[in-house]
Amino acid sequence: MTRREGLVQRRDALRLLTGLGILAWPGGRLAAEADDPLPSLKEKYASDFAIGVSLGGNVPADYSPEELALIRGQFAVLTPENCMKMEHVARREGRFDFGQADAFVDFAGKNGFAICGHVLVWARDEHSPKWFFAQGDKPASRDLLLERLRTHIQTLAGRYEGKIASWDVVNEALDDAKEGYLRPSRWLEVAGPEFIAKAFEYAREAAPRALLIYNDYNNEQPAKRAKMLRLLRALLDKHVPVDAVGLQGHFQSGQVPFKALDETLVAIKGLGLKAVISELDIAMVPRDRWFADNGAHRKELSKSDPYKDGCPPERLERQAREYAELFRLFRRHARVIERVTFWNLHDGRSWLNTFPWKHTEYPLLFDRACRPKTAFREVMKAT
Ligand code: GLA
Repeated sequence: MTRREGLVQRRDALRLLTGLGILAWPGGRLAAEADDPLPSLKEKYASDFAIGVSLGGNVPADYSPEELALIRGQFAVLTPENCMKMEHVARREGRFDFGQADAFVDFAGKNGFAICGHVLVWARDEHSPKWFFAQGDKPASRDLLLERLRTHIQTLAGRYEGKIASWDVVNEALDDAKEGYLRPSRWLEVAGPEFIAKAFEYAREAAPRALLIYNDYNNEQPAKRAKMLRLLRALLDKHVPVDAVGLQGHFQSGQVPFKALDETLVAIKGLGLKAVISELDIAMVPRDRWFADNGAHRKELSKSDPYKDGCPPERLERQAREYAELFRLFRRHARVIERVTFWNLHDGRSWLNTFPWKHTEYPLLFDRACRPKTAFREVMKAT
């Protein structure tokens, strides 16, 4: 008998005895119910979209039994947080490091998870190894850069062909600056805007059956959304094999962009593409000031840790309402949304504990002890 079957049997026996009036329980609650397995997010939303989570570090070696139980119970799709990024697998030319990525894919396969590969090209210089852009002492030519990109994508996506259901092919290629279109980078400078189309073409060759995704942040905001739609239309006009758009969804409590999301999902559907919510979290500590006024507030902010002793319950309740509202919205767009992935497993594992400065964060559905938060319960109730 499994642990779950044992619990169910014990609970049923207790229910029978209390029902017959043989046993009474204070407050009318059955003690065994406290041990009941959590209801499952992935089951609740199974007919709408898949529910995923990103996992960092060594998987499964770095995860506790409680964490592994949570992963298995709640999520259907896994995204590797870092181990498939260029800066991880391709630090040096001609030498690939697949140790962590292989372990990740193996774990997912043995445990019945689908995988979203992340990411083939991250269009930011700080995340692209320098050797890609150099030829001896000189800058690499366009042809050489594209050749290297092709080799990278064929090697990485080819290695896991048939095992990875979707790929974030290009990440964050749009510029945040008001007047800009594509983010200035060496990719753009050396290869021109075609590096994006080429990445999708190489990905299609290497992973013919995978869902190919363009992924970005704030791309639901009207100004950036307009740039994104321009990019997607240009790619589709040229028959570039892009299948879906990733809306990262790194939101802040008090500023969740419901209306912008709604409009963006309509626009994505209008293009005939799918959407994924690829990196969802709702931060409790606002971070806008960090990026404002040319970084003038950073010194002061880097010392601030407002919730180090705990997050006020009313804040967590607001977050719970925001999560529930989001899931209601996602559900209304279930025909276009393929998947909703949380960025990290629980509050203690969130990247936001160190971004953009070190502080204590509470952005997810589970607390540091893997216990469900109010937000989890509200998402489970959302209709
Ligand atoms: C971006 C990237 C992710 C990850 C997060 C922070 O959103 O797409 O790979 O680095 O930032 O963890």
